[in-house]
Amino acid sequence: MLKGKHIILGISGGIAAYKSASLLRLFIKAGAEVQVVMTPSGKEFITPVTLSALSGKPVVSEFFTANTGEWHSHVDLGLWADAMVIAPATASTIAKMANGVADNMLITTYLSAKAPVFVAPAMDLDMFAHPTTTRNLNLLRSYGNTIIEPASGELASHLVGKGRMEEPENIFKVLDDFFSRRDELKGKNLLVTAGPTYEKIDPVRFIGNYSTGKMGYAIADEAASRGAEVVIVSGPVDIAPSHPSVKVVKVESAREMLAACEEEFPSVDCAVMCAAVADYAPAECAESKIKREDSEPPVIHLVKNPDIAKALGQKKRDGQKLIGFALETDHEFDNAMKKLRSKNLDMIVLNSLRDKGAGFGTDTNKITIFTADGKETAFALKSKREVAADIIDSIINL
Ligand code: C5P
Repeated sequence: MLKGKHIILGISGGIAAYKSASLLRLFIKAGAEVQVVMTPSGKEFITPVTLSALSGKPVVSEFFTANTGEWHSHVDLGLWADAMVIAPATASTIAKMANGVADNMLITTYLSAKAPVFVAPAMDLDMFAHPTTTRNLNLLRSYGNTIIEPASGELASHLVGKGRMEEPENIFKVLDDFFSRRDELKGKNLLVTAGPTYEKIDPVRFIGNYSTGKMGYAIADEAASRGAEVVIVSGPVDIAPSHPSVKVVKVESAREMLAACEEEFPSVDCAVMCAAVADYAPAECAESKIKREDSEPPVIHLVKNPDIAKALGQKKRDGQKLIGFALETDHEFDNAMKKLRSKNLDMIVLNSLRDKGAGFGTDTNKITIFTADGKETAFALKSKREVAADIIDSIINL
């Protein structure tokens, strides 16, 4: 998939820079054109001669060529690229990228790049674990960059821990997968519901739940990265999609969520119902704040909320796919299949609350997927983004 692709390989000053030569070789062997951009300290770890010989292009590192005054245009480079990979990305380069400190050619190129950016951190375990690095990597993620997590193992310092740059073969695979998947859902429209709903008791109180929206947003980002047009109808959450093309419609209550979904559903090919919709809402919302009484506590009468998935299931037209989630504590299989049938779903994703690391608020999830034809597929514990990829793969298989 990399044949003919233009790749900028950014190399910063870490011991792992020696592995960049192998990565470059893999890209070239796959038919890509590679332009190496190095930070000044990158050149202390691997020589530009090796890299220019392997890439067949002079390495860019300075803003100007000293003896001729020739200007190296980071803007042109940024526009030329189909992808930019920074491997190794040191703590310093990551911090500069996160904060726009454009004092070298690698960072100016990064800031000019319109193409997707992949970052492969490499540093000592304590530097990697430092809250500053965590914050900077999260910032990079929030800008839509992909972080290729470092591996755990022996580091250059001989300490053992997480911080080793991912192996060149695996970085290569991430890029290869990216190019082979990015048009898979081109021309398809997806609706995703995410997050909790808040059901108002009075102007300052509500009934809600612990859903953070992470799973739904990860699904939306994954679908968008494969070329789909995605809209998230989202309850109140603190997160935003990483992918710039994902549209978000913010709602608060289940009724608002239903109204927004009914508006979007006719124009989508697939709806993924990931929201943790409150089952009940107060029959009415008090106009002013309910005061504490010394006598009896107030009684809140609840009414049933609409079942959004079921409502869409009843309107589903031929060819449209509807995916639901089930969070169960017992009789998981039976309950999931019952839900699939009663809501007219094509597929249901089961999270069991018995599994450590699955469900609300975590960054990981462990799922089993059931399809309407009774097929069951269990997956290992993975990051929510990887789980999202498995879910999107299964939707494509439908
Ligand atoms: O029935 P239960 O709430 O367990 O079903 C979960 C599935 O149904 C999830 O996909 C959830 O997003 C969806 N749902 C919904 N509207 C509701 C309740 C659940 O869309 N009121």
